[in-house]
Amino acid sequence: MNERLPAAFLKALRRLVRQVGLFPVGHPLTDEAIASATDAAGDLVGDDGEVVLTVLDNAYYHNRALLPHTSLEYHVLMREMQARGVESVKLIRPVSSQDLLDLAAFIGALSDDLPADGTVLLNEVFLTASDVTSSSMEGLRASYRGSLDALRVVTGTMASQGTFELTGVIEAVEGLFETSVSHGNASLLLSTVKSHDEYTFFHSVNTCILSLAVGRLVGVDKEHLVPVGVGAVLHDIGKVAVSTAVLNYPGHLSDEQWKEITIHPQEGALAIMSAGGPGHEIAATVAFEHHARYDGSGYPRVTRDGRPHVFSRVVSISDTYDAITTRRSYRRAETPHRALQVLLSNAGSHYDPDLVRLFIRMMGLYPPGSILRVDDGSVVVVTAPSVELGAPLETLLVRDRGGSDVDPEPFEVQPDRVLGQLLPQTAGLDPASLLERLAEVEGQ
Ligand SMILES: [Fe+2]
Repeated sequence: MNERLPAAFLKALRRLVRQVGLFPVGHPLTDEAIASATDAAGDLVGDDGEVVLTVLDNAYYHNRALLPHTSLEYHVLMREMQARGVESVKLIRPVSSQDLLDLAAFIGALSDDLPADGTVLLNEVFLTASDVTSSSMEGLRASYRGSLDALRVVTGTMASQGTFELTGVIEAVEGLFETSVSHGNASLLLSTVKSHDEYTFFHSVNTCILSLAVGRLVGVDKEHLVPVGVGAVLHDIGKVAVSTAVLNYPGHLSDEQWKEITIHPQEGALAIMSAGGPGHEIAATVAFEHHARYDGSGYPRVTRDGRPHVFSRVVSISDTYDAITTRRSYRRAETPHRALQVLLSNAGSHYDPDLVRLFIRMMGLYPPGSILRVDDGSVVVVTAPSVELGAPLETLLVRDRGGSDVDPEPFEVQPDRVLGQLLPQTAGLDPASLLERLAEVEGQ
C-alpha cells in the first residue's frame, strides 16, 4: 500500500484548514492552498472516480487499507475531524474546490455548512472494526502518538510558562520502552516516520526510539533507560528559548546567532532539572550533553574526563542518524546508508566508536526500509538488518527490471549487486508501509 497520495491530500487539507482560519478566499496564500488541495484530491481520486477516507480507532483508512504512517503524521488533523464528528470523507471526481473549501471551514469549526456541490460527502460510508484487518503494530503507533502528545504538551507549557511537568513524558517513554521489548526490531521501523512540518516533535520521538534500542543492546536496565529516553525526547526542548528565525536560518550563522543556538542544551537541562521527578538528573545530563562530542569538542564543554556520559553518547548518535535521514528546509534527506557512513567516518572523534559499531550492527549496512537499485535495473526494499558482511540481503522486490511496479515478493540480493540507494520521494515508494504489510502477513 502506497500512502503517498492519501498523505499528500491530508497534508493539503490540513494546510487549507489552517489557511482559511487565517485569511479569507482571495488572499494569495489561501487561493494557493485551495488549488493544491484540489490537485491533491484529483490525484487521489485518479481514475477510480471516487475514494473514501475513514477515521477509525485513531487511524486513517484509504478505502479499507490502513494508512499507518499517515495516521501518525496527520494525527492533529484527525483530532480536529473527530471533534467535528467527521468519520469519513468520500471524494467524487471531479472534486470541486468549493467543496474542499467548505470541508476545510467545517473541520476548522469556522462554519457549520457542509460541502454542497456533491463531490465531497461526509459520513456517507462507515467502516467498523470488523471491516478492516487490525494491525499488530497498533500498540507501537499508540506509544508513538502518546509520545508526540506528551512532547506537544511539554513544549506548550515550556513556551508559555518556562517550566513543565515530567510525568507525561515519563509515561510515554515507558510505553515506547514496553513496545520495544515486545516488538523488538519492528519498533525501529517506526522511527522511519518523518514529518517535515512537525520536524522537531517527530525527530525527538525517533531519537528516543533509536536510543532505547541501542540502550537495550548495551544492557542498560529499565530504571536507567527510561530516563535516557526522556532525555532523548526532550533533548531539544531548550530550543523553545531560541528564536525561530535563527533555528531555521539556512545560511552561515553569525557569531551572535550561533551563540543563541548553543544555549539550548543548557536551557533544556535547566528546565528538566526544575521539573524534577524520577530519573530527571539522567534526562537533564542527556539534554545538556547531546551536542558534546566524544573527543571533548562540541558544545558545551564537558569536564568529566573530557567526554560526555555514555548515555549522552547514545543519544548523540541517534540524534545525528535521524536528523541526516530527515528532510529539512535547508537540505534534502540523505539515505540511511549515507547516515551510517557519516557516523562511521566520525567515529572516535565526534561519536563513541564502540557505540557506532553497535549502531551499525543494529541497523545493518542497509537498514530496513532502505530502497536499493540492483544492477539489473530492478528496485528492492530491504526488510531485515544485514547481520553478516557479504551475506545476501533480505528484501522485497517492488519494481522489476523493466521499471514496472510489481506485487512485492521476497527476494534475496547479493550486496555486490547493489548499484545505489534511492530516497522514498524520488522512488515514489513508501517503504515503511510496505514493511508493515509484510509484518502483518508474517504475523498471521
Ligand atoms: Fe540539539
